[in-house]
Amino acid sequence: MDWKYLPIFPQSASNFAPHVDALYAYLVAVSAFFSILIAVVIVAFAFKYRRKSESEVPVPLNEHGAGSMLLEITWSVIPLLLSLVMFGWGAVIFFEESKPPADAMEIWVTGKQWMWKIQHLEGTREINELHVPVNRNIRLTLTSEDVIHDFYVPAFRTKTDVVPGRYTTEWFRPTKVGEYHIFCAEYCGTKHSGMIGTVYVMNPGDYDAWLTGGGTSMGSMSQKGEALFQQLGCVTCHVADGTGRCPKLTGLYGTKVELKGGAVVTADASYIRESIVNPLAKIVNGYEGIMPTFQGLATEDQIQQLIEYVKSIGPQKGPAPAQVPAPGGAAKKTPGAAPKQ
Ligand code: CUA
Repeated sequence: MDWKYLPIFPQSASNFAPHVDALYAYLVAVSAFFSILIAVVIVAFAFKYRRKSESEVPVPLNEHGAGSMLLEITWSVIPLLLSLVMFGWGAVIFFEESKPPADAMEIWVTGKQWMWKIQHLEGTREINELHVPVNRNIRLTLTSEDVIHDFYVPAFRTKTDVVPGRYTTEWFRPTKVGEYHIFCAEYCGTKHSGMIGTVYVMNPGDYDAWLTGGGTSMGSMSQKGEALFQQLGCVTCHVADGTGRCPKLTGLYGTKVELKGGAVVTADASYIRESIVNPLAKIVNGYEGIMPTFQGLATEDQIQQLIEYVKSIGPQKGPAPAQVPAPGGAAKKTPGAAPKQ
C-alpha cells in the first residue's frame, strides 16, 4: 500500500510492509465503522425514542418479553468473526516474520548503550549503519552487551527485542533502494532516544563495491574467529583431531551433542555462546567440566567471530545445508550456508 496521500506512515520498503499495512487498514476500518455506527445510532435513537410528553411513562424492559434472540446472536457472531479475522491474519504475519528463510544472508548486530554495532560475515563492520542489498533475504542475529534494546526499522515493519545473554533473530527482504531509519524501541537509559541509525538498501553492484571497500582486508569473521581461537588458547584443549581434554569442534556446528546426564542439544550459535561464557552449564558426555569461563575475556563481537569460526569448520559446506533431524520432532533449522571467504 502506498501512503503518499496520507503522509503519517513510514515508507513501505520490505516484503512485510504491504501485509502489515493491509492488516492495519482492516483494523482501522473495522474500528471506524463501528465507532461511527454506534455514534449515529445513539443520536438517532435519542431523537426517535425521546420522551414526547410530560405524562408519558416508558414501558419497563421486562414487559417486552424475552427480547430478540436473532438480534442477540447477530451482534455476537459478527464481531466474533471480525475479531477472528484479526487474530488469524495477525498470526499469519507473525509466523512469517518469525521464520527466516534458509537462504537468508546473515548479519550480526550487537546493541549497547547507546549504539548499534554491525558485523558482516565478510569482515566489514559498521556502527549505527546497516548496508544491505535490495531484494535479498536478510537475517539479523542480535544480542546486547548491557540492557534490553529493540531493533526497529519502521519502513520494514519489523521490530525485535535485543536481549543480553541471548540471540534473537529478525529477518526481512528490502524491496526498495533507499535510506531508512533504525530506532531503538525499548527504553534503555538516558540516551535511548539517540540510539538511532540508518539502513542503506543498495543495488547489488553498489553493495558489492561498498563491501569490498569496507575493511574486508582485515579478514572475514571466521578468519578473525580462528585467530582468536589461537590467542585465547582454546586450541590447546579443543584439539582438532579430538585427542585434547575438550571436545573437538571440527564438524560440530549444527549437529546434535549428547550431554552428561543424557540430554541432547543442537550445537547452534546460542549453545556455543553459552559454552564460552558459562562452560559448566552444559558438559559434553564423556568430558570433565574443566573449562574456565571466557566471560569478560571475549567481547560479544568476538564471541560472534568465534561462532563463525566454529561454523566454518562445521559439517555444512555449500549452499544446501543438511537438515539435522531432531528426536521428538523438535527440529531446529540449522543456519544457512557456510560463510563466504
Ligand atoms: Cu537502546 Cu533504547
